[in-house]
Amino acid sequence: MSDPFYVTTPIYYVNARPHLGHAYTTITADVACRFHTMKPAETYFLTGTDEHGDKIERAARQEDMTPREYVDRISGIFKALWPELNIRYNQFIRTTDPGHKALVQRILQQIYDAGDIYFSEYEGKYCFGCERFYTDRELVDSKCPDHETVPEIIREANYFFKMSRYQDWLVEHIHRHPDFIRPERYRNEVLSFLKDPLDDLCISRPKTRLDWGITLPFDEKYVTYVWFDALLNYVSALDYPNGEKFRKFWPHVQHIVAKDILKPHGIYWPIMLKAAGIPVYTHLNVHGYWNIEESKMSKSLGNVVEPLSLKNVYGLDAFRYFLMREMVFGLDSSFSEAALVQRINSDLANDLGNLFSRVTAMTHKYLGGIVPEVSEAAEERLSGLKFGDLESNAAAVIDQYETAMENFAFHKALISIWEFINQMNKYIDVAAPWELAKKKSCRPELDAVMYQLLEGLRIVSGLIYPVMPDTARKMQEHLGLSPDEPFYLLAILRAWKTLQPGVKLPKSTRLFPRVEIDTFKAQSSGDAPSLSGPDISEPVALKPAIDIETFAKIDLRVATVVKVEPVPKAKKLLKLEVDMGDTRTIVSGISGSYVPDELIGKQVIIVANLKPAKLMGVLSQGMLLAAVEGKTVTVATLDKRVKPGTMLS
Ligand code: ME8
Ligand code: MG
Repeated sequence: MSDPFYVTTPIYYVNARPHLGHAYTTITADVACRFHTMKPAETYFLTGTDEHGDKIERAARQEDMTPREYVDRISGIFKALWPELNIRYNQFIRTTDPGHKALVQRILQQIYDAGDIYFSEYEGKYCFGCERFYTDRELVDSKCPDHETVPEIIREANYFFKMSRYQDWLVEHIHRHPDFIRPERYRNEVLSFLKDPLDDLCISRPKTRLDWGITLPFDEKYVTYVWFDALLNYVSALDYPNGEKFRKFWPHVQHIVAKDILKPHGIYWPIMLKAAGIPVYTHLNVHGYWNIEESKMSKSLGNVVEPLSLKNVYGLDAFRYFLMREMVFGLDSSFSEAALVQRINSDLANDLGNLFSRVTAMTHKYLGGIVPEVSEAAEERLSGLKFGDLESNAAAVIDQYETAMENFAFHKALISIWEFINQMNKYIDVAAPWELAKKKSCRPELDAVMYQLLEGLRIVSGLIYPVMPDTARKMQEHLGLSPDEPFYLLAILRAWKTLQPGVKLPKSTRLFPRVEIDTFKAQSSGDAPSLSGPDISEPVALKPAIDIETFAKIDLRVATVVKVEPVPKAKKLLKLEVDMGDTRTIVSGISGSYVPDELIGKQVIIVANLKPAKLMGVLSQGMLLAAVEGKTVTVATLDKRVKPGTMLS
């Protein structure tokens, strides 16, 4: 067993419904947790809701509900959503839980008794959205940078936590533990913030202004500031101080948050722990923001995507895959339905889906669907044939994957799996099982090749498990593995030759259907169809005859598509960069039938001596040949790959 693993998400405010951002963080925690079960390790996954404070009280009032009714309702929506996204948390904490409240009061009393909390009058600029005071230096055009509203001036007597006392300690702690906050950009951000003197933290709100909160144990006229309350969820959930869970899991905690709440987690929280005499957390993992069409997405700005709507259209595993593959953990990402469709078609339907159906279909066609027995002699002969060695590739990929997953570099882990998938696809092309199947005498080699491929699929099925648990299981069932076995354990993945010869595989199936662009168009309104051609049901009369000399004047060339991008403001057009020996730009009206990525790498046919013409301001140096049936355009390609620039005649 590896070290236990404890992962937390932020506890989300219940002032609005869950959106894509919350779904991303929580899926990330689920992926990390499932990965740790592969090691194997004992895991604990905590999520929940943050239910006190002005924000919540206001939201409840707006809906004509008591805070209690309101928080019960919205918290319930969060709680019910996670299983629908295949998220398996161990505990869902609510800051209104009696155990949590008691712990908050206990810690406050302890810090108060130790002399780190004092009473003082304060006037400042307060943002109700953020529930905190702002200094002038932090405001942008006198407005809160998050909510873009002017803060209100508030003057009141409150309790303050002496954070300033711990500033030097925190700086030193961060220097001593390079992995304390990661990725590094956020560690640097916290360190740079700590270059200025740290203000003490106002940790109370007078009940005259707000009473939806936890009463201070040493002054019942006040409630606790919501952040001081909320952060303590990470230890109250483990039954601090005496809980068995606390003893086992706290030393291994991995917090996950987005950059919006770096300051409370990177500064307030370690100082609170230190002041309360609780060992400081081990890791804070900070990810970036999902943006939609380049604007920040949040509840307060209102442009949110309902994650469930897309998972229902495209499938849950595909949705989870997209989120984990598209975002580089730590950086911001753009979310669009087009990008999701692109990933589904290229990575899932094409790379993984094709590999899976090719291998399982060939096993049925050539081997009667039975996992073959491999003779040593055949294996030896194979190694002489330079097909590549999937066994050692797999071993290397599992190592890379493990390191990346360990470091929250989920996109990197997926990239290594896909490198292996592509190696397997190439392996098939080179080993050409269909040729081996033609000769009876090649049967031992055919068995050996197919066994390698089936083993490769087994490894892929295990590696994708944290991100796509349903697909992993489906693949495993089709490889004849028992669904009850822990097929995803790293040790089992590393054991090459786990598949049992003689096992009969179920009928082949498709893992991911391609998203037909029409489905996508129907979903995302406004995307115009591309070129229109004659109705295919009408026979089309032939054009007048030409002689061979006339035809010979047309210079047709093979070109490889290198880069594809949409032409701004032209819905039908794609701008292609093609390699024809030299590089050319071709503009083509095919965007209704193709997403850019699916064309990359394809060999197409270009009318190379057509006079260049400008289309929507872009110079097109030639024309792409394609079949046009109604609104569907199919690009002409070649049967085999040839050198770019080759002439057609
Ligand atoms: O801050 N992209 O709750 P919250 C990525 N209650 N992640 C996003 C996101 C986006 N556009 N928008 C939100 C709070 N998130 C406090 C936390 S913890 C002790 C208290 C995710 O409902 C991301 O995880 O505003 C972010 O940190 C969190 O939601 C903020 O959720
Ligand atoms: Mg927020």
